[in-house]
Amino acid sequence: MAIEPSATLAVDAKAGELKAQGKDVISFGAGEPDFVSPPAAFAYARRAMEEGRTHYPPTQGIPALRQEISDYYKRRFDLTVEPGQIVVGCGAKPMIYETLAAIVDPGDEVVLMAPTWVSYIEQIRLVDGKVTVVDTEKTGFVPDLREVEQAITPRTAAILVNSPSNPTGVVYGADTLRGLGALAVKYDLWLVWDEIYEQLVYGENRHIHPLQLMPELAGRVVTINGVSKTYAMTGWRVGYALGPREIISKINAFQSHLTSGATSIAQWAALGVMRESEADKQKMHEAFESRRALICGLLAAMPRVSFPEPQGAFYVFINIKDYLNKSYKGKLLNNDIEFCAALLEEELVAAVPGGAFFAPGYLRVSYAVAEDVIREGMARLGNFLAKIK
Ligand SMILES: Cc1ncc(COP(=O)(O)O)c(C=O)c1O
Repeated sequence: MAIEPSATLAVDAKAGELKAQGKDVISFGAGEPDFVSPPAAFAYARRAMEEGRTHYPPTQGIPALRQEISDYYKRRFDLTVEPGQIVVGCGAKPMIYETLAAIVDPGDEVVLMAPTWVSYIEQIRLVDGKVTVVDTEKTGFVPDLREVEQAITPRTAAILVNSPSNPTGVVYGADTLRGLGALAVKYDLWLVWDEIYEQLVYGENRHIHPLQLMPELAGRVVTINGVSKTYAMTGWRVGYALGPREIISKINAFQSHLTSGATSIAQWAALGVMRESEADKQKMHEAFESRRALICGLLAAMPRVSFPEPQGAFYVFINIKDYLNKSYKGKLLNNDIEFCAALLEEELVAAVPGGAFFAPGYLRVSYAVAEDVIREGMARLGNFLAKIK
């Protein structure tokens, strides 16, 4: 079976190689906060170890964590999600895969909005599904609902949506959500709703859960979330899925044969941050907010690049099309991949090519890095652009 490796991790690996050679690489490649996890993660993990919580946890997730997630959804969205409608696993990524495995039969189609996160495409292929892509570039990175409807066929099983979006940072508004929800009802589809960045939304922007607008979707929405991004917990590998009981038990059954659930100690750490790390979360949020302002200001001053102002997540998706098919030091930059390779080799700046997100001609930079790193990296990007003729 052919599997494309994650392009974001590949950029990181190349940047890591150069760093290991002693080169002063600035990496905007990573999709993770640079902060250390909050103290509650360590306290809860330590206590779990001392209390000997080293046996198989329940596959579906430890009850205290599922209860905490249930309480969180009540507080945050006023949604009633019973602990039995929640399954915890080893990060949001496997929860998406397990959801797809539960709802996609071989040959079924899943509609995605491009630019789209790399792993969705490979995961759909891994469950023998087919990817149908609706391009949103011309409509401000929000889908045109007529195009989504045209993409639906009798083989469509699901619409998979990610808001706030990786890579664009766009947050879907109520009209778009209502429209997508109506299509899911009309064509009897699942709506897989990946809101892993839901707490990382800035300024006046607001994140809405589709069930707040359309409670009638409850039987067809699977929500994906986790602690990785909000609480700087990427290495602990804890994510979760919420949905109708039947689908959650299918996912749980699948998981019981695959991983037996997330690591016990890590689940306790996740419980710790969800219970006690509000202040740490706020601090990280403030840092992202000011990094976002910084990087957007620096990019706005660069000629002939454009980008949607990110409303959420921690990425800027930069249109570099005006710099393609031009020369850098006598070498033609034919596409975003060659642009990124030259940027890394010559200016030691790592960024991910848009092609990895089904959006060639763009560059994704992550601002989950310190402000001095942003300043230096953007100065190098500016130098690089100035030399392209
Ligand atoms: C859109 C999206 N969903 C899910 C994930 C995966 O999160 P986790 O690290 O919890 O597996 C990522 C991480 O990059 C992401 O960008």
